[in-house]
Amino acid sequence: MQLPGLSEGYILQPKLFSASRPCRLVILVSGRGSNMQALVQAASRQAMPVQVCAVISNQMDAPALQWAREQGLRTASLPHRNYQGREQFDEALANEIEAHEPDYVLLAGFMRVLTDGFVRRFHGRLINIHPSLLPAFPGLNTHRRALEAGVAWHGCTVHFVTPEVDEGPIIAQWAVPVLANDNEETLAMRVLQSEHRLYAQVLSWLTQGRVSLDASGKVYLTDVGCRSFASTPNEQDAA
Ligand code: GRF
Repeated sequence: MQLPGLSEGYILQPKLFSASRPCRLVILVSGRGSNMQALVQAASRQAMPVQVCAVISNQMDAPALQWAREQGLRTASLPHRNYQGREQFDEALANEIEAHEPDYVLLAGFMRVLTDGFVRRFHGRLINIHPSLLPAFPGLNTHRRALEAGVAWHGCTVHFVTPEVDEGPIIAQWAVPVLANDNEETLAMRVLQSEHRLYAQVLSWLTQGRVSLDASGKVYLTDVGCRSFASTPNEQDAA
């Protein structure tokens, strides 16, 4: 596949995957793992050519690991406290990931800031989901901050990871209206439902070789009608 004007400076050549050459994924988690579950279930339900090679956590007791094991997925835990520092942990994590030769590394509630070295090693293959409409509200407590700021729309973003936290090139976003009677929990719940849908959609594009990133950090989506999604105020979300 050749995109116009992109023969020079490609970072990520779109790949075409198939049942005989599935998209190899490593998923990084730290806690509950509902995004990981959404990815695994969507891949199975939609028969995506995906092989989840490993689910890796920095928390040994992450519920996400338990669920992954129950699905027969390979898991590994690398407790970050066992390492002298951030560099050592990220080196061990990168080595564990690379042993699986992934096409993509998906962060799904992985609550660690990654070192520049780690991010560079996986540049173009490292993707995150963040619970806000970036560049608004990078970092933690996004739902509380959205309510405090009085925004009318909140939501989530799937983006390539760069060394600056929550700043990488945006692949797609899902907007969620903030309702008059919302509190942190109700808003978080609706945004989480949108996260599950958005991450599954992006995974589907990745498996179809539709997502490219050029050297300037621009994202190209091939034959994708729209990368902006929104829930309506009255939507009863079944996701
Ligand atoms: C999600 O909101 C994700 O966007 C954020 O942390 C939360 C993790 O939830 N980074 P889960 O573990 O996927 O259920």
